[in-house]
Amino acid sequence: MVAIALDALGARYGRQTILSGVDTGLLKGGALTAVIGPNAAGKSTLFKRIAGLIPGPGTVHLSGAALPERDAIRYMPQDTGANAVLTVYESVLLAAKQGSGWRVAESDLAGIDRILADLQISDLGFRGLGELSGGQRQLVSIAQALIRRPQVLLMDEPTSALDLFRQIEVLSFMQRRAAADDMAVLIALHDLNHALRYCEHTIVIANGTMVTSGPSAEVITSAMLREVYRVEARVEACTQGRPVVIVDGSVPAAA
Ligand SMILES: Nc1ncnc2c1ncn2[C@@H]1O[C@H](COP(=O)(O)OP(=O)(O)OP(=O)(O)O)[C@@H](O)[C@H]1O
Ligand SMILES: [Mg+2]
Repeated sequence: MVAIALDALGARYGRQTILSGVDTGLLKGGALTAVIGPNAAGKSTLFKRIAGLIPGPGTVHLSGAALPERDAIRYMPQDTGANAVLTVYESVLLAAKQGSGWRVAESDLAGIDRILADLQISDLGFRGLGELSGGQRQLVSIAQALIRRPQVLLMDEPTSALDLFRQIEVLSFMQRRAAADDMAVLIALHDLNHALRYCEHTIVIANGTMVTSGPSAEVITSAMLREVYRVEARVEACTQGRPVVIVDGSVPAAA
């Protein structure tokens, strides 16, 4: 069983400390964890720190079966700069072979076909990355992130460019993949209803520190929304009994 725990984690850019005090307890493989918080709170910074791209105090504990053909931690950035020269298929093949030699086996190709089909983008395989729509590019980035079956996958706003149908498809697909592959998936999200619906656990980041972390329905409350997001909101059960966030307005600056 894969698990990741963030212990007193912080991060800095150069000498400037941006993030501190992220303590999550054990985040187990098989489920999605939402990372939420306002713009500039430190969500992307947290992901870069976990991925080892920037320094900082604290520890990332990773435990579980480390299979050699699987990446330990994979980071899917928020802004996915497209290498316009490659086709979609080539770019996913490149991601698959990264760091493992260039011999391409039948199974590599079958794996790419499968992931493109799962994400419903098989028809894009031989299109150039430079000629895709924003949402199509985002789906290709998800394929690139998944192809090495990481144990921990950090997805930075993976649904921000997707239409409603694709958002739902991608999040429920990620739920199934996390469970099937014993993968711990952390997803930075702005849509709190997605966090409530698809993510077992939620970590709240604000002003460069962790505010709280726990089961999504316990963490996403009107008090938290007021304090962290400065909005007046209700969290109510919908007609199907699921909790949903309804935003009524912003909290006046002087309040
Ligand atoms: N390379 C960098 N050098 C210095 N400061 C940076 C750098 N990247 C980000 N920051 C700063 O770190 C803070 C946190 O940024 P971060 O990108 O982690 O926010 P975020 O929570 O991901 O926001 P958003 O929801 O807008 O994506 C911001 O104040 C930002 O300006
Ligand atoms: Mg960000």
